[in-house]
Amino acid sequence: MKSIIVTGGNAGLGYACASTLAKTEKEAHIVLACRNPTKANEAVNAMKKETGHKNIIAMELDLSSLASVRAFARKFAASSLPPLDALVCNAGVQFVDKAHVSKDGFEKTFAVNHLGHFLLVNLLVDKMTDHGRIVFVSSGTHDPLQRSGMPEPIYEDARLLAYSNNVAPIDVPFNGRRLYTTSKLCNIYCTYELADRIQRCTDKQITVSAFDPGLMPETGLARSYSPFLRFISRYILGLLILVHPKVNTTAKSGRALASLVTNPMLKNATAKYYEGSKEIQSSVLSYNVENRKNLWDVSVELTKLTANESILLTI
Ligand SMILES: NC(=O)c1ccc[n+]([C@@H]2O[C@H](COP(=O)([O-])OP(=O)(O)OC[C@H]3O[C@@H](n4cnc5c(N)ncnc54)[C@H](OP(=O)(O)O)[C@@H]3O)[C@@H](O)[C@H]2O)c1
Repeated sequence: MKSIIVTGGNAGLGYACASTLAKTEKEAHIVLACRNPTKANEAVNAMKKETGHKNIIAMELDLSSLASVRAFARKFAASSLPPLDALVCNAGVQFVDKAHVSKDGFEKTFAVNHLGHFLLVNLLVDKMTDHGRIVFVSSGTHDPLQRSGMPEPIYEDARLLAYSNNVAPIDVPFNGRRLYTTSKLCNIYCTYELADRIQRCTDKQITVSAFDPGLMPETGLARSYSPFLRFISRYILGLLILVHPKVNTTAKSGRALASLVTNPMLKNATAKYYEGSKEIQSSVLSYNVENRKNLWDVSVELTKLTANESILLTI
């Protein structure tokens, strides 16, 4: 028996991944970690009906609140769920309308896509089984060489990302799409730093990888775009699913994401980046070790993470 947690498992890619896992991992308890209990329970019921899998539950997790992340980790530890075998850090947001601020006062794209997941993994890593797996859902948009049409990420210091909506708003006009691609770069820094720390701080063979699902026009990620752009995204880009190798159905990307958790061939593969099921190099900037260390140190500071909470702070 084992548990698998999928953040944002109530919709889009997270739902598709969790339902694939529910179909293939009969002995697993699937935990949908979601911010909206009503939507989460609806997803649990739909997934049970679709897959016939009985052990699917919802647990409340709002990644934009550090208190909620800590409450989730406490509840998981106190539960009678089987040991944690995999953690899929999938939930994500992109805002193009205006700057949004998290409950803790941080720019919300950074808070949800990176900081909440950073804290979650640190709090749960000692609950994981030997050969457990952690996967971060990143995006090919973090890499300018992929020519996604999204703005190139800019990384100087994680403090500037955390407070980017408060710092010099005249000099730094709001660019939600850049905040998004930069947060997806953060997912990769976090993957590489965690993989390194896990190897140095524990005897367990826990792997950490990052995943690019490709463009999935069907999901709700573009919800803050104008109705016209949402139409283009869903229906015009949707047609590209038929012809473009990097435009995918949510179901296809969900299966590829689930395979990073289940494929026995990947048992020892850590600090890797996958485009779908194919291992590739992440962007040139994503291998910058100084940025990676800065992100880790600042994230520890912002989350007020302590050595009592995480086994990964002992180096
Ligand atoms: N769609 C694409 O083309 C694409 C491409 C590359 C990468 N991705 C990545 O794929 C992942 C999944 O996105 P998606 O496309 O499936 O979008 P989606 O349909 O909008 O799903 C996002 C999920 O994240 C959840 N979420 C948002 N804020 C949260 C919070 N504060 N706490 C907990 N959960 C929260 C949402 O919950 P609610 O339902 O309650 O809002 C939803 O379950 C993201 O990391 C995204 O960056 C997507």
